[in-house]
Order: sequence, then structure tokens, then C-alpha cells
Amino acid sequence: EQAAPAGTAVQQSPGGSAHASKDVTILYGSQTGNAQGLAQKSGRKLEENGFKVTVSSMSDFKPNSLKKLENLLIAVSTHGEGDPPDNALTFHEFLHGKRAPKLEGLRYSVLSLGDSSYEQFCQTGKEFDSRLEELGASRLAPREDCDLDYDEPAAEWLEKVLAELQGAEAQCPSNDKEITYSGESTYTRTNPFHAEILESINLNGRGSDKETTHLELSLEGSGLSYEPGDSLGIYPENDPALVNLIIEEMKWDEDETVKVNKQGETKSLKEALTSNFEITVLTKPLVEQAAKLTGGKELGELLAREEELKTYMKGRDLLDLLTDFGPWNGTAQDVLNILRKIPGRLYSIASSLEANPDEVHLTIGAVRYESYGRSRSGVCSILCAERLQPGDTIPVYVQSNQNFKLPEDGDTPIIMIGPGTGIAPFRSFMQEREEKGAGGESWLFFGDRHFVTDFLYQTEWQKWLKDGVLTKMDVAFSRDTAEKVYVQHRMLENSKELYEWIQSGAIVYVCGDEKNMAHDVHNTLIAILIQEGKMAKEEAEAYIAEMQQQKRYQRDVY
Ligand code: 2AM
Repeated sequence: EQAAPAGTAVQQSPGGSAHASKDVTILYGSQTGNAQGLAQKSGRKLEENGFKVTVSSMSDFKPNSLKKLENLLIAVSTHGEGDPPDNALTFHEFLHGKRAPKLEGLRYSVLSLGDSSYEQFCQTGKEFDSRLEELGASRLAPREDCDLDYDEPAAEWLEKVLAELQGAEAQCPSNDKEITYSGESTYTRTNPFHAEILESINLNGRGSDKETTHLELSLEGSGLSYEPGDSLGIYPENDPALVNLIIEEMKWDEDETVKVNKQGETKSLKEALTSNFEITVLTKPLVEQAAKLTGGKELGELLAREEELKTYMKGRDLLDLLTDFGPWNGTAQDVLNILRKIPGRLYSIASSLEANPDEVHLTIGAVRYESYGRSRSGVCSILCAERLQPGDTIPVYVQSNQNFKLPEDGDTPIIMIGPGTGIAPFRSFMQEREEKGAGGESWLFFGDRHFVTDFLYQTEWQKWLKDGVLTKMDVAFSRDTAEKVYVQHRMLENSKELYEWIQSGAIVYVCGDEKNMAHDVHNTLIAILIQEGKMAKEEAEAYIAEMQQQKRYQRDVY
């Protein structure tokens, strides 16, 4: 059935006409909730304009009802190296397969989210867009490929779609470009709440090669709420040392007044570089713009050599670009104008609001590395580890994530696989289940490097185990033994029981590193189904896909 997720207003518009072309279906494919949020906002806006809107996750949508649709909007993000989000996988595969129907009667438009620092920028949106055209559908409005700062382009896209749906010529652009709706907390991604730091603790013991910050923030007075599985977005400040190096390199005046946005807000150059712009990542659009600001030919030549450009951008930042090329003709303002707005960083929330009213806790792994002779650091993780003190405030917003949710029925068993900082949402799950007295069984797989220094929240887990809030716990400390052990090895050791849990309806949750861990854990689940369920490989894969579809296999991976 075409289901709308909780919180989505799917209703007939007041006095809505029965005319079929007033029906609009919005499908989203979303990993972290951005595309879902935009789909829901767009839905509300269209409803306000008299349309009858159905908003649905692609995974809840029955593909054979596609032929009945007249107007289809797609909001989809691109994940990892050009992959669709988990809840878009089945629909994406169906649409690109032989069984996809001809769609001559369909009008559509695609809103595509991505990050231009990735080579496969907005790939999934591009694929939906061109495939729908191939199947005979016609575009209501051109596809919009949005970079991290998506609010404005998304709103403009919706204006075009709306004008087209209303059959009008594109009207005068409205001044209010941000999509705003009543009934939401005052504080949003575009209007973040300044949360006070209550506590900041390094969870790793002395001598660990890791640093994991446990951060407690106050939401008091914000009206913000969240559920286990949701994320908190933080707008970080750049490293002041890097900001200073850029200003010195360019011989700029740090006190010069500059504009920081289209609305004309001004700040000192130093403040602007610290809190408004991204200075740690190079993207192709940025390099293209920068080439116009230099008198030298070298940057233009680099742009012409794709592979070399890719290699150059990887691991380098704005300071490298400004140092390696030049001479630079533009003013400081010209350079700011080509930078991306600093994006918010999402962290899986590690607390339950039920158990900690007005608070939100995070588990943040510090990112430090060397590249091209300079030590570099993750912007937000190092800010949290080194510079934020209790009493300071930081801009935050809540990002709901309907793809990672505790089952409504507290008796449903859950299996939680979360090595490293992947443990965060499971602490939230346990707090919530403890608070609500949920009776369902639960099983944690946790892993990190060393038992003594890296067992995050060790005493809390042991207490939950003792109290029966947690039923089973298996841990893998990879560097305490000659041979590395990971969570998936513990899963294999317990394959019979794991299979029984899955058979009895347990939900499997995976949180943490995507590229290595989540991939290996996925293959291990398939191996367990083959071994214990006596399935062929294809059967096991289909079983996993079915679990994903039924939300019995949920992932929060990064
Ligand atoms: P390692 O750093 O010793 O390789 C949390 O980061 C834990 O996840 C660490 O113990 C880390 O081990 C481990 N880890 C690294 N790669 C992994 C993978 N592919 N699958 C599961 N765990 C992994």
C-alpha cells in the first residue's frame, strides 16, 4: 500500500476538486532524511495550493501503480560513490529493469541531492530523470541538481513545478525563497538553535589511539524534540589556525568587511571564513570558478586533465589551492563568492529524550590525518574534541530519520550492530526501551580497537545487560589479539542463534562506517542466511532485500 510516513500530512485539500490532474505523487529516496524532508515540505506547499498530494518513500510505493499516475515528483539523494539510498534500491532497480512500463501519460520532475565534492555528483537523480524520459514520460520542469546547500535551489525548483502544474507561465519569482510552513519548531536547518554545551568527555582511556567525544547539549527553550534514530546537525566553525594561514597567504586584511550571503549580511573577513564558508574541501565547480580569478594558465590546464584534477583535489583544501596557483586577481570578496556555505554535519543522536528531557547527547569520533605535509583535521569533530567547552553554544538542528526507527511494538526483538561511533543510536535505543519498560529482547554487537581504552559506554552496557534491558552482548576488540576480530566474526560465531532471531521477526540495525564495516556485515548476513537457512545465494539476497523493504533491516551508515 502507498503509505505516508508519520508526520506527513496526506489529505484532500479543502474543497479539493476531483479533477485528476490535481493529483500529485511525491516519491523520495533518502538516507539521512534530507530528501524526505524536502519531499514532505514540497507536499505541504502543493497542498496549500489546492493539489491532492501523496508523499511516500520509494520503498513503500507499489511500482505497478506507476502507470496510473499523472504527476510524479521525485526527490532523491545520491549516496556513497553514486549509489541510490537504501529505501530507493528496489524502485530504482524496477524502473531500470525490463518490467518497467511505458509511461507516456506521466508528467514528472526530479529534485536531485548530492555533494559536488564527489565525482558521481547527483548520479541517482540523473538516472531517474533520464530513465523516466526513456520510458516516455515528459518533464514538468528540468531536473534540479542540488549541492549541500540545497534549500534555495529546491525552493526554486518547486516554484517552477508549481507554475507548470498550475498551467501558468512561470510567475514573478517570490521574494520568500525559503520554503516555510506553519506547525514546525521555530528552529530548523536554515534557522538553527544555539545549544549550550553541558558536558564534553573523551570516552577513550589514556593511551588509546582514538579520541571519541561524548557531548551533552541543552535543548531547553528550543521546542525541539527528537526520536531515537534521529540525527543532530551541527554547524561547525573552521579551525582558526587554517583561517589565519589563508589570510596570511593572501595578504588579506582580516578586519575587512565582507558580505556573507545574498541577503547582504556583513561580517569581518576573519569571522566569515571561520563560520560561513567551507574552506577544507575542493570541488570541481570551485576550481572552475577559481580559474577565472587567476592570471596564470596552470589552473585552466589542470582542469583540462580530469584524472590529474581528481588526484589534486583529494586531500587538499583552499589553502593548498591558493598557495599552489595564482597570481590571484580577485578581492577577498571575489574568493568568498565562489565558496560553498559551510554545511551542517549530521551525528546520530546517542540519547533518548524520554530519559534526558531537554538534552541531546552525541558520540563524535575525532578525525585527524596528514596529507601533503600538513596535519589536517575533521572540521566538526576537532572543534568538539578540542575547542568547545561547557557553557559555549553551537548552532544545531534536528534531522528526523524515518529510516532508522525502533519498532512501535516494544516486544519486537532487535539486533544492533554498531562498532566504533556506530554505537551512538543504540545507546539511544536502550535508554528509550528502559524508560518505557519495553519487554522485547535485544542483542548488541560492538567492536573497537582495545577493550581497556575503547569500550564506549562500557559501564552503561554492562548495567543494561545486568538489568535485562539488554539480552545479549558480543564484543570484538580488533587489536587485542594477534589476529583481528571484527563484529562480523562474532556474528558468524553466533550464526545459528542470529538466524533464529531473524526468523522470529527481529529487526537488524547496522550503524557506522559504510565502506568497509557495513559492506562486510551485509555479506555476513547473507552468508548466515545461506548457511543456516539453507538458501541459495540469490535466495538469501532476495530475503535481505525483502527485509529491507519491510524495514526489518535498517542502516544508518556514513
Ligand atoms: P581496526 O581499526 O583495528 O581495523 C571501530 O572502528 C572498529 O571497527 C575497530 O575495531 C576497527 O578495527 C573495526 N573495523 C575496521 N574495519 C572493519 C570492517 N571492515 N568490518 C568490521 N569492523 C571493522
